[in-house]
Amino acid sequence: MIIMAAALLILFGATVILQADLLPDKKFVLLPPVNFTIKITGLAQVLLRWEPDPHQEQRNVNLGYRVRINAPQEDDYETRDTESQCVTILHKGFSASVQTIFWNEHSLPASSWVSAEMKDPPGSPGTSIANLTCTTNTVENNYVHLRRYQVSLRCTWLVGQDAPEDTQYFLYYRYGSWTEECQEYNKDTLKRNTACWFPRTFINSKGRDRLVVHVNGSSRHAAIKPFDQLFDLHAIDRVNPPMNVTAEIEGTCLSIQWEKPVSAFPIHCFHYEVKIYNIRKDYVQIEKMMINSFISVIDDISKYSVQVRAAVGSLCREMGHWSEWSQPIYVGNDEPTSSLEWFIIALMAAICFVLLIFSFICRICHVWTKLFPPVPAPKSNIKDLFVSTNYEVIVDVLMVWHMSPEPGSQEQSLESWLQRNRN
Ligand SMILES: *[C@@H]1O[C@H](CO)[C@@H](O)[C@H](O)[C@H]1NC(C)=O
Ligand SMILES: *[C@@H]1O[C@H](CO)[C@@H](O)[C@H](O)[C@H]1NC(C)=O
Ligand SMILES: *[C@@H]1O[C@H](CO)[C@@H](O)[C@H](O)[C@H]1NC(C)=O
Ligand SMILES: *[C@@H]1O[C@H](CO)[C@@H](O)[C@H](O)[C@H]1NC(C)=O
Repeated sequence: MIIMAAALLILFGATVILQADLLPDKKFVLLPPVNFTIKITGLAQVLLRWEPDPHQEQRNVNLGYRVRINAPQEDDYETRDTESQCVTILHKGFSASVQTIFWNEHSLPASSWVSAEMKDPPGSPGTSIANLTCTTNTVENNYVHLRRYQVSLRCTWLVGQDAPEDTQYFLYYRYGSWTEECQEYNKDTLKRNTACWFPRTFINSKGRDRLVVHVNGSSRHAAIKPFDQLFDLHAIDRVNPPMNVTAEIEGTCLSIQWEKPVSAFPIHCFHYEVKIYNIRKDYVQIEKMMINSFISVIDDISKYSVQVRAAVGSLCREMGHWSEWSQPIYVGNDEPTSSLEWFIIALMAAICFVLLIFSFICRICHVWTKLFPPVPAPKSNIKDLFVSTNYEVIVDVLMVWHMSPEPGSQEQSLESWLQRNRN
């Protein structure tokens, strides 16, 4: 114990002596920076600037600054520059402080703080939009002179509950040094903008910057408070599903292949999930993998539906959401003979029935008789009639005879009637 206490005392004494040695002069005092200003340089972006006090003694010391962000979100860092850029939401105001420090000697006393503040913009909080959500999606570009992959952006929001009915909202995004205003809005029944669509943006899907979205508004009856939100790209990116999924069965092997989704990320970045659904057994199998094909052994005859989805893996950026599943591909046979046969049998039965009905109708309408007249055994008297006339005439003659009101045996009457009416 005593030894330890002695050692501590010695250490403490050494530190004090060291400090005394380093201190250039007992009267050397750090002065706070002057002309500390906060300037808005973009959407949700400010530049802090200050100058060293001209009365500060320089001597042989390295000076630096400690910056403290007080609002909207506390942050603390050091710099040797006399300016600092800060990306943060601004609709709640902004305030920061800065002090001068010895760059290498943090144990030495720093200067006092100087502070600056930016008031929050006018308008009551209930007038600004609520529940802002945004998603991005990568589309392939067919125009040679533009970037191969373009990122589209879609945002939706709710109208502020205290916003007057005539309120109109305007959305802007900033990515890096690019800022754009929305041109394609969706409106609610009061014609207030509640969603926005950018078919293409300056967003770099592989970039690490955060996306800034700013929505302000105007009304004749009240000041509309603007609203800022910062989005991490990986969290809002809707990855496209894998392309050209194919599946085939050879014997007991089900082999599935696909291509990487439309994306600026290279092929090695993707994770996949394959979903194989055995329709007969109503059983789902899901496999995770990082290559673009999968072979599964199947043990029975069944129909399968195959789907694949993708996500950008942590190798290339922070893990985001899975894509939608690809359109299902169907392979295999699901007891096809019985149902197909039944269908064919039913079809044949239907055709027979229709033919039967048709022939029945033909008989009723004498069409049958007209088309295929019965050929009676020719009697001596009417033989030459058959030879010299066509069937139509015979039918006409028979009908005229039938109508004539002459009694007696028909055969006899027909013969005599024909002889009488021969010319
Ligand atoms: C601080 O600002 C004042 C007025 O804007 C200016 O006259 C002065 O030179 C500035 N001081 C420094 C050290 O830049
Ligand atoms: C909007 O967001 C709030 C809290 O963030 C939530 O309570 C509310 O249910 C959301 N409203 C709608 C319509 O999604
Ligand atoms: C909304 O913000 C944009 C970008 O800062 C600005 O140009 C525009 O004047 C603002 N509109 C309103 C109504 O405040
Ligand atoms: C993938 O499919 C698209 C159209 O669906 C086609 O243009 C493309 O050539 C296919 N890729 C390969 C490698 O087959």
